[in-house]
Amino acid sequence: MLTGIKTRDLRKIYKSPPPLASGGGFGFGPARGKGKKQPKAEIVALDGISLDVAPGEIFGLLGPNGAGKSTTVGILTTRVRPTGGQAWIGEHDVWKEQVAVKRLIGVVQQRPNLDFTLTAREILLFHGAYFGIDSRMREERAETLLERFKLSDRGEEMVRGFSGGMMQRLSIARAMMHDPQVLFLDEPSAGLDPQTRLLLWEIIREYNQSGKTILLTTHNMEEADALCQRLAIIDHGKNIALGTPAELKASVPGGYLLRLRFGQHSSELLQRLQSLTGVREVRSKSNTPNASATGDYSADVYADRGGSLVSEIANLASGASVELCDVHISEPSLENLFLHHTGRSLRD
Ligand SMILES: Nc1ncnc2c1ncn2[C@@H]1O[C@H](COP(=O)(O)OP(=O)(O)OP(=O)(O)O)[C@@H](O)[C@H]1O
Ligand SMILES: [Mg+2]
Repeated sequence: MLTGIKTRDLRKIYKSPPPLASGGGFGFGPARGKGKKQPKAEIVALDGISLDVAPGEIFGLLGPNGAGKSTTVGILTTRVRPTGGQAWIGEHDVWKEQVAVKRLIGVVQQRPNLDFTLTAREILLFHGAYFGIDSRMREERAETLLERFKLSDRGEEMVRGFSGGMMQRLSIARAMMHDPQVLFLDEPSAGLDPQTRLLLWEIIREYNQSGKTILLTTHNMEEADALCQRLAIIDHGKNIALGTPAELKASVPGGYLLRLRFGQHSSELLQRLQSLTGVREVRSKSNTPNASATGDYSADVYADRGGSLVSEIANLASGASVELCDVHISEPSLENLFLHHTGRSLRD
């Protein structure tokens, strides 16, 4: 059986700000500001997200901090109640049929939630027992997963002594323990070293090849590109682009991005840049009041070619008596795509 994921116009409005840290790390209410009236703030975390993830697909949610990725995963995994819209795992409405949905899904949350008082093997075995897997099968699966995630020699150790990356590997192993049809991985490679990240990618592909659907979140474009068959790029709770990594990259005008910084603002120079062969679009915030305050006279040039434009740009700048202070060329990438859609870098 292959199971897909669907959402229609998902909205989530948090009525209060995120819980303050209590100092003890358990979030039992705010320790600071006690007795003071907290400001009432509404946060629109999701603003109408509609997604169709095909059965057997690896689908990525890419977006900057606070975009709404974990909130989307939270709703799809029954942890967060949506303010509006609907979500389905296969045929099952996520909010109305939570038990059926929980049987179909495995979840790795962004923040590790392992029981520190158990050993790694116990965590896997207890999870298997919770899902009604018989004891022989449980033992077998736990053994295979410990081996696959290179944790065999740590299986009898208490998790409290694990490094962050080891906990992350164990969390993913636990989510796979009941062989779920749909696997949710919220930033699965956070905190993993480059080699372990490659191992994880291999495991994710392998799991997908056995017919499973995988939804993962990331802000790492390399990961999204390498792993996902399709991606949704989200920002401020909205879906701003959808497609295969190749389609998304091809949708950036020209593909090449030249980020230029000048010594001063010149509207005439910006116009001339636009007329160079191969230049598709020139964007500049240089004539805003903020730019003159900070001395940031920059322009983003989207073009069909990269390096060969630099000397022509330098000539234009010198002809306009404007200093060209910095040039940064990047090839077609998801980063460029995000910048083009939002005017901001994913890394900003
Ligand atoms: N429990 C909560 N209460 C109030 N606001 C919340 C809560 N959880 C998330 N938010 C807010 O909702 C917005 C979206 O958060 P979310 O965690 O979904 O983002 P994200 O894309 O996963 O970001 P990151 O890349 O940092 O993990 C943020 O503004 C966040 O502060
Ligand atoms: Mg998140």
